[in-house]
Amino acid sequence: MNRFEGVKVLLTGAASGIGRATAVRLAAEGAHVFGVDRDERGLAETGRLVRGAYVPHVADVTDERAVVAAVDAAAAALGRIDVLVNVAGIQRTTPIESLTVADLTLLFSVNLVGTALFCREALRHLPDRTGVIVNVASIAATQGNPYMTAYAASKGAVLAFSLSLAAEVVGRGIRVVPISPGTVTTPLTRDIEFPEGADLRYFGRIRSLLGSGAPEQIAAAIAFAASSDGGYLTGANLRVDGGSGT
Ligand SMILES: NC(=O)c1ccc[n+]([C@@H]2O[C@H](COP(=O)([O-])OP(=O)(O)OC[C@H]3O[C@@H](n4cnc5c(N)ncnc54)[C@H](O)[C@@H]3O)[C@@H](O)[C@H]2O)c1
Repeated sequence: MNRFEGVKVLLTGAASGIGRATAVRLAAEGAHVFGVDRDERGLAETGRLVRGAYVPHVADVTDERAVVAAVDAAAAALGRIDVLVNVAGIQRTTPIESLTVADLTLLFSVNLVGTALFCREALRHLPDRTGVIVNVASIAATQGNPYMTAYAASKGAVLAFSLSLAAEVVGRGIRVVPISPGTVTTPLTRDIEFPEGADLRYFGRIRSLLGSGAPEQIAAAIAFAASSDGGYLTGANLRVDGGSGT
C-alpha cells in the first residue's frame, strides 16, 4: 500500500517501540517522517530501519520551547505537516501507598502535556479538510490498571483531551483519533516492575487471550487512522487490545 505517498508526518516517540514501528510503517507507505524523541541513539537506530524519507530530531516533549522549535523544524524540513502522531510516553508503577506528587507530575508532563503541546503547535500547520492527529492513549484510560493509577489517569487525560480537541477542530475538517493499545511488547512493558506482593489476579482482566500485541500491529492501526481509509474516523477511541477486558 502507498497511502502516504507525498504525506508529511510529524511523529513523537520515534526512537523505540510503537513509535519506531510507526516510522517504519508510514515511511514504507511513502510518508516523509520527521521523528522526534529525547533518545538520540534510538532515533538513529530507527533511521537505519526506515526505508524511506526520515529526519530525526532530538527534543523532550515536556519542554515547551523545545516543542515549539521541533514543530517549526518539522515544518521547515518537510515543507508542511499533514499528520501528527503523538506516541512518546512513559509508564510507571505507583502503588497508592507510595504515590507522590513527583510521580503524578512526571506522568502528566510527558503523557498529557507533551501530547497537548504538540497538538497546539502542529495545528498551526495542519491543513483544513485533510489534517489528522493520532494520539496514543491506552486501555488504562478506560479500564482499571492496578498499581498504575497515575499512568492510567494521565492516559485518561490524553483520551479526554483528544475527544474534546476532535470536537473543536471538526469544523476545519481536521480529524483527531485517540488510539488505545492493550499490552504491547516494547521496552516500556519489559521494564515494568510490580510491587512486592502484588496480587496478580488483578491482571487477568487487562490481558488478551491472544497474548501481547506487537508494535507493528499498533503501527498498522495508526496508519489506518491517519490515512484516507480512516477518513470518517474522528473523536472516537480506537481500542487495539486483542479483546482485553471482553
Ligand atoms: N507498550 C504498551 O503495552 C502500551 C500500551 C498502551 C499504550 N502505550 C503507549 O504507547 C506509547 C509508546 O509506548 P512504547 O510501548 O512504544 O514505549 P517505548 O518506551 O518503547 O517508547 C516510548 C518512547 O517515548 C520516548 N519518550 C519518553 N519520554 C519522552 C520525552 N519526555 N520526550 C521525548 N520522548 C520521550 C522514549 O524515549 C521512547 O523512545 C506510550 O505513550 C505508551 O504509554 C503502550
